[in-house]
Amino acid sequence: MGMKAGYFFTALILIAGLISCGKDEAVIPPPVSGGGAPSHFPAPVYPISFSRVENEKFELGRKMFYDENLSLDRTISCSSCHKTIAAFSDPGRSTSPGVGGKTGVRNAPALFNLAWKPSMMWDGGVVNLEFQPVAPLTDTNEMHMQIKDVVLRLQENSEYSDLFKSAFGNFEINSQRILQAFARFLSALISGSSAYDNYILGNPNALNSNEKKGLEIFRQNCSACHTEPLFSDFTFRNNGISATASDSGRVRITLLPQDRNKFQVPSLRNVGFSAPYMHDGRFASLDEVINHYSSPQNFSANADEIMPQKELSVQEKEQLKAFLLSLNDYQFVNNPGFANPDY
Ligand code: HEC
Ligand code: HEC
Repeated sequence: MGMKAGYFFTALILIAGLISCGKDEAVIPPPVSGGGAPSHFPAPVYPISFSRVENEKFELGRKMFYDENLSLDRTISCSSCHKTIAAFSDPGRSTSPGVGGKTGVRNAPALFNLAWKPSMMWDGGVVNLEFQPVAPLTDTNEMHMQIKDVVLRLQENSEYSDLFKSAFGNFEINSQRILQAFARFLSALISGSSAYDNYILGNPNALNSNEKKGLEIFRQNCSACHTEPLFSDFTFRNNGISATASDSGRVRITLLPQDRNKFQVPSLRNVGFSAPYMHDGRFASLDEVINHYSSPQNFSANADEIMPQKELSVQEKEQLKAFLLSLNDYQFVNNPGFANPDY
Protein backbone atom coordinates (compact mmCIF):
# COMPACT_ATOMS: atom_id res chain seq x y z
CA MET A 1 0.00 0.00 0.00
CA GLY A 2 2.86 2.33 0.92
CA MET A 3 4.32 1.61 -2.49
CA LYS A 4 1.18 2.71 -4.31
CA ALA A 5 1.43 6.04 -2.54
CA GLY A 6 5.07 6.07 -3.62
CA TYR A 7 4.14 5.75 -7.30
CA PHE A 8 1.59 8.47 -6.92
CA PHE A 9 3.96 10.98 -5.37
CA THR A 10 6.71 10.19 -7.87
CA ALA A 11 4.22 10.74 -10.65
CA LEU A 12 3.21 14.08 -9.14
CA ILE A 13 6.81 15.20 -8.76
CA LEU A 14 7.64 14.14 -12.32
CA ILE A 15 4.59 15.89 -13.74
CA ALA A 16 5.44 19.02 -11.74
CA GLY A 17 8.97 18.78 -13.18
CA LEU A 18 7.66 18.59 -16.73
CA ILE A 19 5.36 21.56 -16.26
CA SER A 20 8.08 23.67 -14.71
CA CYS A 21 10.33 22.79 -17.66
CA GLY A 22 7.93 24.77 -19.80
CA LYS A 23 6.50 21.90 -21.85
CA ASP A 24 2.89 22.60 -22.71
CA GLU A 25 1.89 18.94 -22.73
CA ALA A 26 2.55 17.12 -19.48
CA VAL A 27 3.51 13.60 -20.52
CA ILE A 28 2.65 11.02 -17.89
CA PRO A 29 5.93 9.30 -17.02
CA PRO A 30 6.13 5.52 -17.32
CA PRO A 31 5.05 3.75 -14.15
CA VAL A 32 8.56 2.45 -13.54
CA SER A 33 8.23 0.64 -10.26
CA GLY A 34 7.84 3.08 -7.50
CA GLY A 35 9.69 6.04 -6.14
CA GLY A 36 12.75 3.89 -5.67
CA ALA A 37 13.33 0.66 -3.85
CA PRO A 38 10.63 -1.29 -2.03
CA SER A 39 10.89 -0.34 1.65
CA HIS A 40 11.71 -3.89 2.77
CA PHE A 41 14.67 -4.28 0.35
CA PRO A 42 18.29 -3.62 1.39
CA ALA A 43 20.33 -0.88 -0.30
CA PRO A 44 20.94 -1.53 -4.03
CA VAL A 45 24.48 -1.93 -5.38
CA TYR A 46 23.72 -0.06 -8.63
CA PRO A 47 22.24 3.41 -8.03
CA ILE A 48 18.50 3.66 -8.65
CA SER A 49 17.18 7.02 -9.78
CA PHE A 50 13.88 8.25 -11.12
CA SER A 51 14.83 11.84 -11.82
CA ARG A 52 13.49 13.33 -15.04
CA VAL A 53 16.74 12.97 -16.96
CA GLU A 54 17.21 9.40 -15.73
CA ASN A 55 13.68 8.65 -16.93
CA GLU A 56 14.71 9.83 -20.40
CA LYS A 57 17.60 7.36 -20.31
CA PHE A 58 15.15 4.69 -19.19
CA GLU A 59 12.95 5.42 -22.23
CA LEU A 60 15.93 5.19 -24.56
CA GLY A 61 17.05 1.92 -22.96
CA ARG A 62 13.52 0.59 -23.21
CA LYS A 63 13.31 1.32 -26.94
CA MET A 64 16.69 -0.30 -27.62
CA PHE A 65 15.69 -3.38 -25.58
CA TYR A 66 12.89 -4.11 -28.05
CA ASP A 67 14.78 -3.16 -31.23
CA GLU A 68 15.63 -6.07 -33.55
CA ASN A 69 17.83 -3.80 -35.66
CA LEU A 70 20.49 -4.14 -32.99
CA SER A 71 21.27 -7.69 -34.18
CA LEU A 72 23.33 -8.66 -37.25
CA ASP A 73 20.39 -9.89 -39.38
CA ARG A 74 17.82 -7.61 -37.71
CA THR A 75 15.76 -10.49 -36.35
CA ILE A 76 16.75 -10.65 -32.67
CA SER A 77 16.18 -8.10 -29.90
CA CYS A 78 16.90 -8.45 -26.21
CA SER A 79 13.22 -9.24 -25.80
CA SER A 80 13.46 -12.25 -28.16
CA CYS A 81 15.01 -14.06 -25.20
CA HIS A 82 13.73 -11.90 -22.33
CA LYS A 83 9.96 -11.65 -22.71
CA THR A 84 8.03 -9.04 -20.76
CA ILE A 85 5.06 -11.28 -19.92
CA ALA A 86 7.40 -13.91 -18.46
CA ALA A 87 9.24 -11.52 -16.13
CA PHE A 88 11.78 -11.11 -18.95
CA SER A 89 12.68 -14.80 -19.11
CA ASP A 90 12.22 -17.07 -22.16
CA PRO A 91 9.30 -19.30 -21.17
CA GLY A 92 9.29 -22.88 -22.38
CA ARG A 93 12.78 -22.81 -23.88
CA SER A 94 15.83 -24.25 -22.15
CA THR A 95 18.12 -22.36 -24.55
CA SER A 96 17.17 -19.46 -26.82
CA PRO A 97 17.97 -19.08 -30.50
CA GLY A 98 19.96 -16.00 -31.48
CA VAL A 99 21.03 -14.78 -34.94
CA GLY A 100 20.88 -17.63 -37.48
CA GLY A 101 19.10 -19.90 -35.01
CA LYS A 102 22.31 -20.63 -33.11
CA THR A 103 22.00 -21.33 -29.39
CA GLY A 104 24.29 -21.10 -26.41
CA VAL A 105 24.27 -23.59 -23.55
CA ARG A 106 22.47 -21.57 -20.87
CA ASN A 107 18.87 -20.78 -19.97
CA ALA A 108 17.88 -17.12 -20.35
CA PRO A 109 17.19 -15.86 -16.82
CA ALA A 110 14.30 -13.62 -15.79
CA LEU A 111 15.39 -9.98 -15.44
CA PHE A 112 14.38 -8.02 -12.34
CA ASN A 113 15.99 -6.46 -9.27
CA LEU A 114 19.28 -6.35 -11.16
CA ALA A 115 20.32 -3.23 -9.23
CA TRP A 116 20.75 -5.51 -6.22
CA LYS A 117 22.97 -8.07 -7.93
CA PRO A 118 26.68 -7.82 -7.17
CA SER A 119 27.27 -9.90 -10.31
CA MET A 120 25.25 -11.09 -13.28
CA MET A 121 25.12 -14.30 -15.35
CA TRP A 122 24.91 -17.86 -14.04
CA ASP A 123 28.64 -17.78 -13.35
CA GLY A 124 28.87 -14.17 -12.12
CA GLY A 125 31.03 -13.25 -15.13
CA VAL A 126 29.72 -9.67 -15.37
CA VAL A 127 30.08 -7.44 -12.34
CA ASN A 128 28.75 -4.12 -13.60
CA LEU A 129 25.27 -3.58 -14.96
CA GLU A 130 26.66 -1.06 -17.46
CA PHE A 131 28.85 -3.73 -19.11
CA GLN A 132 26.13 -6.38 -19.17
CA PRO A 133 24.60 -5.60 -22.63
CA VAL A 134 28.01 -5.90 -24.33
CA ALA A 135 27.84 -9.69 -23.88
CA PRO A 136 24.54 -10.37 -25.71
CA LEU A 137 25.13 -7.63 -28.31
CA THR A 138 28.48 -9.15 -29.37
CA ASP A 139 27.93 -12.88 -28.66
CA THR A 140 27.88 -14.79 -31.96
CA ASN A 141 25.09 -17.02 -30.56
CA GLU A 142 22.98 -14.01 -29.62
CA MET A 143 22.96 -10.67 -31.48
CA HIS A 144 26.38 -11.01 -33.19
CA MET A 145 27.23 -7.32 -33.52
CA GLN A 146 30.20 -5.09 -32.87
CA ILE A 147 29.50 -2.12 -30.64
CA LYS A 148 30.60 0.34 -33.37
CA ASP A 149 27.97 -1.18 -35.67
CA VAL A 150 25.31 -0.85 -32.97
CA VAL A 151 26.10 2.90 -33.03
CA LEU A 152 25.58 2.92 -36.83
CA ARG A 153 22.27 1.07 -36.59
CA LEU A 154 21.01 3.58 -34.03
CA GLN A 155 22.10 6.46 -36.27
CA GLU A 156 19.88 5.05 -39.07
CA ASN A 157 16.71 5.77 -37.12
CA SER A 158 15.92 9.44 -36.53
CA GLU A 159 13.74 8.64 -33.54
CA TYR A 160 16.91 7.82 -31.66
CA SER A 161 18.52 11.24 -32.16
CA ASP A 162 15.71 12.86 -30.19
CA LEU A 163 15.91 10.21 -27.49
CA PHE A 164 19.68 10.68 -27.14
CA LYS A 165 19.23 14.45 -27.00
CA SER A 166 16.61 14.23 -24.24
CA ALA A 167 18.69 11.77 -22.26
CA PHE A 168 22.16 13.26 -22.71
CA GLY A 169 21.73 16.87 -23.86
CA ASN A 170 22.86 16.48 -27.49
CA PHE A 171 22.43 14.15 -30.45
CA GLU A 172 25.71 12.27 -30.09
CA ILE A 173 25.32 8.48 -30.07
CA ASN A 174 28.26 6.62 -28.54
CA SER A 175 28.88 3.35 -26.75
CA GLN A 176 29.07 4.87 -23.29
CA ARG A 177 25.66 6.49 -23.66
CA ILE A 178 24.16 3.31 -25.10
CA LEU A 179 25.35 1.29 -22.13
CA GLN A 180 24.21 3.88 -19.59
CA ALA A 181 20.72 3.92 -21.10
CA PHE A 182 20.50 0.14 -21.12
CA ALA A 183 21.60 0.08 -17.47
CA ARG A 184 18.98 2.65 -16.52
CA PHE A 185 16.24 0.55 -18.10
CA LEU A 186 17.53 -2.69 -16.60
CA SER A 187 17.98 -1.20 -13.13
CA ALA A 188 14.38 0.09 -13.16
CA LEU A 189 12.98 -3.43 -13.60
CA ILE A 190 12.10 -3.66 -9.93
CA SER A 191 9.83 -6.41 -8.72
CA GLY A 192 8.57 -6.15 -5.15
CA SER A 193 4.78 -6.37 -5.28
CA SER A 194 3.96 -10.07 -5.03
CA ALA A 195 1.48 -11.51 -2.53
CA TYR A 196 4.51 -12.43 -0.40
CA ASP A 197 5.59 -8.75 -0.33
CA ASN A 198 2.11 -7.69 0.62
CA TYR A 199 2.27 -10.18 3.50
CA ILE A 200 5.71 -9.02 4.65
CA LEU A 201 4.55 -5.40 4.51
CA GLY A 202 1.83 -6.15 7.02
CA ASN A 203 -1.23 -7.66 5.35
CA PRO A 204 -1.77 -10.99 7.18
CA ASN A 205 -4.37 -12.10 4.64
CA ALA A 206 -2.14 -11.68 1.59
CA LEU A 207 -1.10 -15.34 1.91
CA ASN A 208 -3.57 -18.16 2.50
CA SER A 209 -2.88 -20.89 5.06
CA ASN A 210 -1.29 -23.24 2.50
CA GLU A 211 1.06 -20.51 1.32
CA LYS A 212 1.95 -19.63 4.92
CA LYS A 213 2.77 -23.26 5.64
CA GLY A 214 4.83 -23.25 2.45
CA LEU A 215 6.74 -20.19 3.68
CA GLU A 216 7.66 -22.11 6.85
CA ILE A 217 8.86 -25.08 4.81
CA PHE A 218 10.79 -22.69 2.60
CA ARG A 219 12.50 -21.06 5.59
CA GLN A 220 13.55 -24.48 6.90
CA ASN A 221 14.85 -25.90 3.63
CA CYS A 222 15.63 -23.19 1.10
CA SER A 223 16.29 -19.75 2.53
CA ALA A 224 19.88 -20.50 3.55
CA CYS A 225 20.70 -19.83 -0.12
CA HIS A 226 17.52 -18.24 -1.47
CA THR A 227 17.63 -15.55 1.22
CA GLU A 228 14.70 -13.15 1.71
CA PRO A 229 13.74 -10.58 0.61
CA LEU A 230 15.63 -10.89 -2.72
CA PHE A 231 15.50 -14.71 -2.56
CA SER A 232 19.20 -15.08 -3.22
CA ASP A 233 22.36 -14.48 -1.20
CA PHE A 234 24.19 -14.17 -4.57
CA THR A 235 26.77 -16.84 -3.65
CA PHE A 236 27.86 -19.62 -6.00
CA ARG A 237 26.81 -23.13 -4.99
CA ASN A 238 26.29 -26.66 -6.15
CA ASN A 239 22.65 -27.55 -5.54
CA GLY A 240 23.12 -31.24 -6.24
CA ILE A 241 21.97 -31.40 -9.87
CA SER A 242 24.22 -33.57 -12.03
CA ALA A 243 27.02 -31.79 -13.89
CA THR A 244 27.24 -31.64 -17.69
CA ALA A 245 30.36 -31.51 -19.84
CA SER A 246 29.27 -28.34 -21.64
CA ASP A 247 29.21 -26.03 -18.64
CA SER A 248 31.46 -26.07 -15.57
CA GLY A 249 30.01 -22.84 -14.10
CA ARG A 250 31.85 -20.51 -11.76
CA VAL A 251 35.28 -22.12 -12.35
CA ARG A 252 35.25 -20.54 -15.82
CA ILE A 253 35.55 -17.14 -14.16
CA THR A 254 37.71 -17.81 -11.11
CA LEU A 255 39.76 -20.80 -12.40
CA LEU A 256 39.60 -22.17 -8.83
CA PRO A 257 39.02 -25.94 -8.81
CA GLN A 258 36.61 -25.67 -5.86
CA ASP A 259 34.31 -23.55 -8.05
CA ARG A 260 33.72 -26.33 -10.59
CA ASN A 261 29.99 -26.90 -11.20
CA LYS A 262 28.92 -24.04 -8.96
CA PHE A 263 26.33 -21.55 -10.24
CA GLN A 264 24.96 -18.33 -8.81
CA VAL A 265 21.94 -18.84 -6.57
CA PRO A 266 19.06 -17.37 -8.63
CA SER A 267 16.27 -15.30 -7.12
CA LEU A 268 12.98 -17.18 -6.88
CA ARG A 269 10.77 -14.17 -7.38
CA ASN A 270 8.50 -14.60 -10.42
CA VAL A 271 9.53 -18.25 -10.62
CA GLY A 272 6.01 -19.19 -11.70
CA PHE A 273 6.57 -17.29 -14.95
CA SER A 274 10.06 -18.48 -15.85
CA ALA A 275 10.01 -22.25 -16.51
CA PRO A 276 12.12 -24.17 -17.43
CA TYR A 277 14.55 -24.07 -14.51
CA MET A 278 18.27 -24.23 -13.66
CA HIS A 279 21.24 -22.88 -15.64
CA ASP A 280 20.49 -25.25 -18.52
CA GLY A 281 16.71 -25.31 -18.20
CA ARG A 282 16.72 -29.04 -17.38
CA PHE A 283 13.59 -29.01 -15.20
CA ALA A 284 10.35 -28.21 -17.00
CA SER A 285 8.21 -27.58 -13.92
CA LEU A 286 8.32 -26.51 -10.29
CA ASP A 287 7.18 -30.04 -9.39
CA GLU A 288 10.37 -31.42 -10.92
CA VAL A 289 12.44 -28.83 -9.03
CA ILE A 290 10.76 -29.65 -5.72
CA ASN A 291 11.16 -33.39 -6.29
CA HIS A 292 14.88 -32.81 -6.85
CA TYR A 293 15.30 -30.92 -3.58
CA SER A 294 13.21 -33.52 -1.77
CA SER A 295 15.46 -36.42 -2.85
CA PRO A 296 18.75 -35.96 -0.99
CA GLN A 297 19.75 -39.52 -1.89
CA ASN A 298 19.94 -38.38 -5.54
CA PHE A 299 22.12 -35.30 -4.99
CA SER A 300 25.34 -35.34 -7.01
CA ALA A 301 28.71 -35.62 -5.28
CA ASN A 302 29.94 -32.23 -4.05
CA ALA A 303 26.43 -30.94 -3.40
CA ASP A 304 26.64 -28.02 -0.99
CA GLU A 305 26.61 -29.10 2.64
CA ILE A 306 23.75 -26.73 3.47
CA MET A 307 21.41 -28.47 1.02
CA PRO A 308 18.24 -29.78 2.75
CA GLN A 309 18.51 -33.41 3.87
CA LYS A 310 14.83 -34.10 4.22
CA GLU A 311 12.19 -35.77 2.08
CA LEU A 312 9.02 -33.69 1.93
CA SER A 313 5.56 -35.26 2.10
CA VAL A 314 3.14 -34.85 -0.82
CA GLN A 315 1.28 -32.21 1.18
CA GLU A 316 4.46 -30.32 2.08
CA LYS A 317 5.48 -30.28 -1.59
CA GLU A 318 2.13 -28.76 -2.53
CA GLN A 319 2.45 -26.13 0.19
CA LEU A 320 5.99 -25.26 -0.85
CA LYS A 321 4.85 -24.88 -4.45
CA ALA A 322 1.93 -22.69 -3.40
CA PHE A 323 4.37 -20.45 -1.57
CA LEU A 324 6.73 -20.24 -4.56
CA LEU A 325 3.81 -19.16 -6.74
CA SER A 326 2.98 -16.40 -4.24
CA LEU A 327 6.26 -14.80 -5.39
CA ASN A 328 4.70 -14.05 -8.79
CA ASP A 329 4.49 -10.29 -9.23
CA TYR A 330 1.58 -9.62 -11.58
CA GLN A 331 1.99 -5.86 -11.29
CA PHE A 332 5.56 -6.26 -12.54
CA VAL A 333 4.81 -8.40 -15.61
CA ASN A 334 1.79 -6.28 -16.56
CA ASN A 335 3.52 -2.92 -16.11
CA PRO A 336 2.85 -1.06 -19.39
CA GLY A 337 5.87 1.17 -18.68
CA PHE A 338 8.17 -1.79 -19.26
CA ALA A 339 6.50 -3.05 -22.44
CA ASN A 340 7.55 -2.39 -26.02
CA PRO A 341 7.03 1.38 -26.54
CA ASP A 342 6.15 0.83 -30.23
CA TYR A 343 3.04 -1.27 -29.59
C1 HEC B 1 19.72 -15.19 -27.79
C2 HEC B 1 19.15 -14.97 -26.46
C3 HEC B 1 19.49 -13.70 -25.72
C4 HEC B 1 19.48 -12.40 -26.18
C5 HEC B 1 19.19 -11.89 -27.58
C6 HEC B 1 19.78 -11.57 -25.04
N1 HEC B 1 19.98 -12.34 -23.92
FE1 HEC B 1 20.33 -11.66 -22.07
N2 HEC B 1 20.73 -13.54 -21.46
C7 HEC B 1 20.60 -14.67 -22.23
C8 HEC B 1 21.18 -15.81 -21.55
C9 HEC B 1 21.24 -17.24 -22.07
C10 HEC B 1 21.71 -15.30 -20.34
C11 HEC B 1 22.50 -16.09 -19.29
C12 HEC B 1 23.93 -16.10 -19.80
C13 HEC B 1 24.96 -16.65 -18.84
O1 HEC B 1 24.67 -16.83 -17.66
O2 HEC B 1 26.09 -16.86 -19.28
C14 HEC B 1 21.38 -13.88 -20.31
C15 HEC B 1 21.68 -13.03 -19.25
C16 HEC B 1 21.32 -11.70 -19.19
C17 HEC B 1 21.44 -10.85 -18.03
C18 HEC B 1 21.96 -11.28 -16.66
C19 HEC B 1 20.81 -11.55 -15.74
C20 HEC B 1 21.23 -12.08 -14.39
O3 HEC B 1 20.40 -12.03 -13.48
O4 HEC B 1 22.36 -12.54 -14.22
C21 HEC B 1 21.01 -9.60 -18.39
C22 HEC B 1 20.92 -8.36 -17.51
C23 HEC B 1 20.64 -9.67 -19.78
N3 HEC B 1 20.82 -10.96 -20.22
C24 HEC B 1 20.20 -8.59 -20.52
C25 HEC B 1 20.12 -8.63 -21.92
C26 HEC B 1 20.04 -7.46 -22.75
C27 HEC B 1 20.04 -6.02 -22.28
C28 HEC B 1 19.99 -7.90 -24.04
C29 HEC B 1 19.96 -7.09 -25.32
C30 HEC B 1 21.07 -6.17 -25.50
C31 HEC B 1 19.99 -9.36 -23.98
N4 HEC B 1 20.10 -9.76 -22.69
C32 HEC B 1 19.88 -10.18 -25.10
C33 HEC B 1 20.00 -14.73 -23.47
C34 HEC B 1 19.84 -13.64 -24.31
C1 HEC C 1 22.80 -24.78 -1.11
C2 HEC C 1 22.07 -23.66 -1.65
C3 HEC C 1 20.64 -23.89 -2.10
C4 HEC C 1 19.57 -24.34 -1.36
C5 HEC C 1 19.54 -24.73 0.10
C6 HEC C 1 18.45 -24.33 -2.26
N1 HEC C 1 18.81 -23.88 -3.49
FE1 HEC C 1 17.60 -23.63 -5.10
N2 HEC C 1 19.21 -23.14 -6.24
C7 HEC C 1 20.51 -23.06 -5.80
C8 HEC C 1 21.39 -22.88 -6.93
C9 HEC C 1 22.91 -22.74 -6.88
C10 HEC C 1 20.59 -22.88 -8.07
C11 HEC C 1 21.05 -22.78 -9.53
C12 HEC C 1 21.63 -24.14 -9.89
C13 HEC C 1 21.97 -24.33 -11.33
O1 HEC C 1 21.29 -23.81 -12.20
O2 HEC C 1 22.94 -25.05 -11.60
C14 HEC C 1 19.21 -23.04 -7.58
C15 HEC C 1 18.09 -23.04 -8.44
C16 HEC C 1 16.79 -23.12 -7.98
C17 HEC C 1 15.61 -22.98 -8.82
C18 HEC C 1 15.63 -22.64 -10.31
C19 HEC C 1 15.41 -21.15 -10.54
C20 HEC C 1 15.57 -20.74 -11.95
O3 HEC C 1 15.32 -19.54 -12.23
O4 HEC C 1 15.97 -21.53 -12.82
C21 HEC C 1 14.52 -23.14 -8.03
C22 HEC C 1 13.07 -23.04 -8.46
C23 HEC C 1 15.02 -23.41 -6.70
N3 HEC C 1 16.38 -23.39 -6.70
C24 HEC C 1 14.20 -23.65 -5.60
C25 HEC C 1 14.68 -24.07 -4.36
C26 HEC C 1 13.84 -24.57 -3.31
C27 HEC C 1 12.34 -24.69 -3.39
C28 HEC C 1 14.68 -24.89 -2.28
C29 HEC C 1 14.31 -25.55 -0.97
C30 HEC C 1 13.60 -26.81 -1.09
C31 HEC C 1 16.05 -24.56 -2.69
N4 HEC C 1 16.00 -24.08 -3.97
C32 HEC C 1 17.16 -24.72 -1.90
C33 HEC C 1 20.93 -23.15 -4.50
C34 HEC C 1 20.15 -23.61 -3.44
